Amino acid sequence: MSKSAWGGRFKAEAAQRLRDYTESVSFDHELARHDIAGSKAHAKMLARIGVLKASELRDILKGLDEILTLLDAGKFAWRTELEDVHMNVETELTRRYPAGAKLHTGRSRNDQVATAVRLWLKDQIAENRRAVTTLQLALHTWAERDLDVVIPGYTHLQRAQPVLLAHHLLAYVEMLERDASRLADCAERADVLPLGSGAIAGSTLPLDRAFVAKELGFARLSENSMDAVSDRDFVVEYHAACALLAVHLSRFAEDLILWSTAEFDFIRIGDAYTTGSSLMPQKKNPDLAELARGKSARVIGHLVASLTLLKGLPMTYNRDLQEDKEALFDTARTVQATLLILAEMLGDIMVNRDACARAAADPLLLATDLADWLVGKGVPFRQAHHLVGEAVALAESRRISITEIPLADWKKISPVFDPSALEVFSLQTGLASRPTHGSPNPKLVKQQLARWKKVLRR
Ligand code: ARG
Repeated sequence: MSKSAWGGRFKAEAAQRLRDYTESVSFDHELARHDIAGSKAHAKMLARIGVLKASELRDILKGLDEILTLLDAGKFAWRTELEDVHMNVETELTRRYPAGAKLHTGRSRNDQVATAVRLWLKDQIAENRRAVTTLQLALHTWAERDLDVVIPGYTHLQRAQPVLLAHHLLAYVEMLERDASRLADCAERADVLPLGSGAIAGSTLPLDRAFVAKELGFARLSENSMDAVSDRDFVVEYHAACALLAVHLSRFAEDLILWSTAEFDFIRIGDAYTTGSSLMPQKKNPDLAELARGKSARVIGHLVASLTLLKGLPMTYNRDLQEDKEALFDTARTVQATLLILAEMLGDIMVNRDACARAAADPLLLATDLADWLVGKGVPFRQAHHLVGEAVALAESRRISITEIPLADWKKISPVFDPSALEVFSLQTGLASRPTHGSPNPKLVKQQLARWKKVLRR
């Protein structure tokens, strides 16, 4: 009887420090259910090609189900000396049913782990996509609730032009939709079965890979065994999709943080989703949004780590690849939790309509509309831009609103100005007169809301 978990080749047990350093079961136990699914399909295939007797297959499937029950009850005893999730499951199976010793026929942990991760990721992406939709719906609900609220839109964080709050919120619905489509794209490329590639060069046994793919719901078989065991492109793609998603969530969080300051005062986040200060009794902090912003850092970091992990690897499988997992799980968890908590928080946000109205009432937000008005009178835009700029400077020097400039002074700037020019300073007219597709014209925003309602409830 050999002393080592690795069988006859080894005379001495691994050093404790090596075992502690190399084990992965403390984190890859997360793959257990998908590993078991892969093992069941592999076992059924082995029975089909005559490697397992019917009774052996029955025992293996029964044993794996027993292990699933233990997992559900949180009672599976993980053993770090067995290194990873795959060895743990197989060892426990074989302890229960000797036929378990035949399960690894024609299989290596190299194709086994690649299969488990791809299965896991496909499920994870489906969950992430549902969470993206949840947040989109929360944004949509908020947009509908405060459909009549106008706020300044900002460029360079300077007041630019008026927009509907709903238009601003729908911008994030658009970003999230692209994120969902990137995730779907990633799932499609993950949808390839590596099992049957063995350690690197397939198997001498007539493994029926197409059968296994069908059992596991994979759309395609990997076409090259070397690629199959060493490819982690799909992991990098997932990190990339999640990093961009996390960046979108971070930007949204930043908007909420700004809007909840005394300076903006556009929104109040409910007590249940804010925290106090241990020192300053008056404080109500948007910690949740700050953490949503802050957590994007680790998701971005994991993308860089996953690329760095791969860049120097010689073909094919190298143990370095074990390092892909903690980052992968962390990114998935982080993104999922952030989507769901933000969606929840949006239900507890109150818009301060007075503050929004005050901010949006700044007539300078419509200075561009005045330039457009001059264009309507035949003035070249560059000149119109200049003339309105003169009016802005004049108002500023007299410390009056641009709407308070007397007609005589307008005429001095340009004889083209007449009293009807000042009508552009009505917020309602300003927004309603925008015919361009995709603009914050209330009528068009309503159409967008109706479109999204259909898309999101699909
Ligand atoms: N825990 C390993 C991983 O995550 C499983 C594959 C190990 N394969 C091997 N030949 N040592 O990559």
